[in-house]
Amino acid sequence: MSTRKKLVVGNWKMHGSRPANAELLAGVLAGRPYGAEVAVCVPAVFLTETAATLAASDVRWGAQDVSAHEQGAYTGEVSAAMLAECGCRYAIVGHSERRAYHAEGDMLVAQKAQAALAKGVTPIVCVGETLAEREAGQTEAVVKRQLSAVIHQLTHCAAEMVVAYEPVWAIGTGRTATPEQAQAVHAVLRAQLQAATGHGERMRILYGGSVKADNATALFSQPDIDGGLIGGASLKAADFIAICRA
Ligand code: PGA
Repeated sequence: MSTRKKLVVGNWKMHGSRPANAELLAGVLAGRPYGAEVAVCVPAVFLTETAATLAASDVRWGAQDVSAHEQGAYTGEVSAAMLAECGCRYAIVGHSERRAYHAEGDMLVAQKAQAALAKGVTPIVCVGETLAEREAGQTEAVVKRQLSAVIHQLTHCAAEMVVAYEPVWAIGTGRTATPEQAQAVHAVLRAQLQAATGHGERMRILYGGSVKADNATALFSQPDIDGGLIGGASLKAADFIAICRA
């Protein structure tokens, strides 16, 4: 039996407004206590307000991206130090939407993870294959390559990251990986983490991609699935609460 505490993270993506956030966060707070650790990753402009709303609770918050650079002439970027100042516990890095729409490669993702950790912000490192890669039998090779870049960059700190397996074909599509499909990949990732860090058994590996209240329990009860990264279903308090309780 593992001692890993389950972690459920809402990824709001580019959704929200001040009134909508206030209502959503009030709902999430009202749903406590949770057996799992719960966090929300919000758009950067809402971090200060989110921090003020959640500070007195055990619900944590984080960002959806972080700059690989420490500071300087990088217009539009947000540094890990800034996230730390806003009290961020987590920063998602390498989400497939950033890999696809912002051309983020394995090396940049690894540098972002390192920048976050250097300021005490835990990176949630996303890996996952496209449908074409799965159909070509490349799933294992792709996720191992993506994770390996981060492991090598973080060296002795690699055990401090959280990993999220998010098959690209399951994100926002309503088409989720079966618990068995997800578990198979999680087991591969855990073995890789164990071999590289010696701490694979205590590291958390989340599943993401069309997690809903009605499939969360089956996914989260797999031996190597330690919680979820939740997109669409994190935007409605009732749905997110149900997943946090799953
Ligand atoms: P989804 O998104 O739950 O809407 O599929 C998950 C994610 O992209 O993190």
